[in-house]
Amino acid sequence: MSRKFFVGGNWKMNGDKKSLGDLIQTMNGAKVDPNVEVVCGAPAIYLDFARSKLDAKFGVAAQNCYKVAKGAFTGEISPAMIKDCGVNWVILGHSERRHVFGESDELIGQKTAHALESGLGVIACIGEKLDEREGGITEKVVFAQTKVIADNVKDWSKVVLAYEPVWAIGTGKTASPQQAQEVHEKLREWLKANVSEAVANSVRIIYGGSVTGGTCKELASQKDVDGFLVGGASLKPEFIEIINAKA
Ligand code: PGA
Repeated sequence: MSRKFFVGGNWKMNGDKKSLGDLIQTMNGAKVDPNVEVVCGAPAIYLDFARSKLDAKFGVAAQNCYKVAKGAFTGEISPAMIKDCGVNWVILGHSERRHVFGESDELIGQKTAHALESGLGVIACIGEKLDEREGGITEKVVFAQTKVIADNVKDWSKVVLAYEPVWAIGTGKTASPQQAQEVHEKLREWLKANVSEAVANSVRIIYGGSVTGGTCKELASQKDVDGFLVGGASLKPEFIEIINAKA
């Protein structure tokens, strides 16, 4: 089954109207492979701005959301609000949410369920820390994280699974194509055994962690790598090269 290549940009807490506006202009004017689904993760306060300026062929994602539609949750945003801005995706479970802000697997699962019920697509992030990789428990960690997500998903067509080894995020240490492929393949096997063969074959598993214009092509050539989640390089014109990694 062919899986449409998916490239997400994660702007994190970076940029302002001037610099993001310039980036958006570059993206709108670039020649991009029409066979790639592109989604830019904007800071919450710039979701409206990004959606109104980015060409309609590019999707926009929030970088987080809460697990209910509204209420007394100071500082949070809901999937309903995200959709109200014309934005159709949310990144959930990013390692910075897990490890800087202490989000639990349980909360990420609840957020996933509510975001999907609200009609958002979810880029669900998982990944092991360095000590976990060195301790030989990468699979155990990513399977456990994936299980909590899977327990909260009814419609897998709205989910992209992002494998992002924590040791590779923002460190300049990209996983080797073999390291990425190995985990992606295992994740697909897990999905086959625990969800269904159809889901295992159709769900996009994307890689994140120091992806650059220089590393993207070989990573993209791996059988089970269906795209990328890009942090630092998504703020640069280099992002276009990554979008076109398979072209
Ligand atoms: P990076 O970030 O590309 O800067 O390593 C990836 C991510 O956090 O999604």
